[in-house]
Amino acid sequence: MASNEIINVKLFGEEIGRIGMNEDEKRSSFQYNPDFLKRDDLQNIFPATGIIKRTSHVQLFSQFDNETFKGIPPQFADSLPDMFGSIIFKAWLDHKGQNSISVLEQLAYVANRGMGALEYSPAKKLPKKVNIDLSEVIETLKEVLDLKKSKSESELNSKALINIFKIGTSAGGARPKILISENKENGKIIPGDLEYSEDYHHYLVKLAMDEEGAYPREIIEYCYHLAMKDCGISVMDSKLVEGKHFATLRFDRQHGAKQHVLTATGLTGWDYKPAKESSYENLFKLCSFLKVPHVQIEELFKRMVFNVIYGNTDDHLKNHSFIYNKKKNTWQLSPAYDVTFALNPLLDFKNPNRALSINGKRSKISHADLLKIAEEFTVKNPTGIIKEVESLKAGLLKRFEEYGVSRRVAAGIGERVVGLE
Ligand SMILES: Nc1ncnc2c1ncn2[C@@H]1O[C@H](COP(=O)(O)OP(=O)(O)OP(=O)(O)O)[C@@H](O)[C@H]1O
Ligand SMILES: [Mg+2]
Repeated sequence: MASNEIINVKLFGEEIGRIGMNEDEKRSSFQYNPDFLKRDDLQNIFPATGIIKRTSHVQLFSQFDNETFKGIPPQFADSLPDMFGSIIFKAWLDHKGQNSISVLEQLAYVANRGMGALEYSPAKKLPKKVNIDLSEVIETLKEVLDLKKSKSESELNSKALINIFKIGTSAGGARPKILISENKENGKIIPGDLEYSEDYHHYLVKLAMDEEGAYPREIIEYCYHLAMKDCGISVMDSKLVEGKHFATLRFDRQHGAKQHVLTATGLTGWDYKPAKESSYENLFKLCSFLKVPHVQIEELFKRMVFNVIYGNTDDHLKNHSFIYNKKKNTWQLSPAYDVTFALNPLLDFKNPNRALSINGKRSKISHADLLKIAEEFTVKNPTGIIKEVESLKAGLLKRFEEYGVSRRVAAGIGERVVGLE
């Protein structure tokens, strides 16, 4: 693709506009399809956070030239591969003998297989029908991630690599993961990149790579998932596959349709890495701006309390998402995801900083800090919520025992599942 190419963006089968990129000038553009703007529905697909405006003029963006947004508006950067996806992307390009790729070309590969409902065309073609063999996927991944010294890149199993490329590059995040769809009737598993019908359960699977000296991250995440459920936090149904991989149903594939989903970062352009805009206050403000139902403000408060008490410090802005309701033209908070003990429980971390600050603090959060937020965003009965979440703490350790997490790992986490100051 030339340095100033354009790509079309579609949503729910409608062409909404075109993204352009001038790689030399490090500047992107977006222009709405004027016919799309004339519609009286789908008006709030990109809420007015000051980035994409509802105008048929060409809009230029030079402020997103960084690692998180790769030059393009955050709403579309959300569709790009993240850390894990980029490693796979690179391995696949290396395998093809190609050494670089433009950001719009990456979107052309995302095509209609991205998370959420945004689609990009013209698409780069990839072979369609392939079966999924989980152990083959994992073996290939180990080679790609350098966990296993064996074949050279050129000898990598080409079919397995394409498979991983198709189902392993769309979902964001740093950990190895793939998308699969499981037939509701016969349990048959197929690639989860294109399928969204009601005949299947659509899962995002975080893979246990059996790394040397590792701890069972995915089992721990499953135990956290159960603990959140116990606390009444909204989560997607999840399960362990082969007793060790964490499979969670996708909230962007529901009711036999793609759901338009954006992360807090994708909606606002707040970079999730630096501390600058990373605060719970901002997240609550975003909820108010999006006019999510007030019960969801209470839900977010409970999630924040849970993250503090159960020691999940990796609660960054890409770990919170919102789902668009196409019929009502409204937004709501997505179910909670990526909530776990994110640090190595076998290492000694003293007062780790959390990604999102609370009342200006990133560690040693007190009861008073939580209450301050509750007051600012009119959360009812915050003390009751804190007590409820705290009273269920012991349940997490029981889950660890139930799912065979070693005492050492359980104790490492247990020590940091804190009472508030
Ligand atoms: N159940 C789900 N349904 C739809 N999308 C999901 C779901 N769970 C996660 N995602 C999306 O996939 C991305 C990656 O998932 P997740 O955050 O669990 O991975 P991770 O590798 O642990 O991330 P991190 O780099 O934050 O540690 C999320 O940012 C979110 O956009
Ligand atoms: Mg994440």
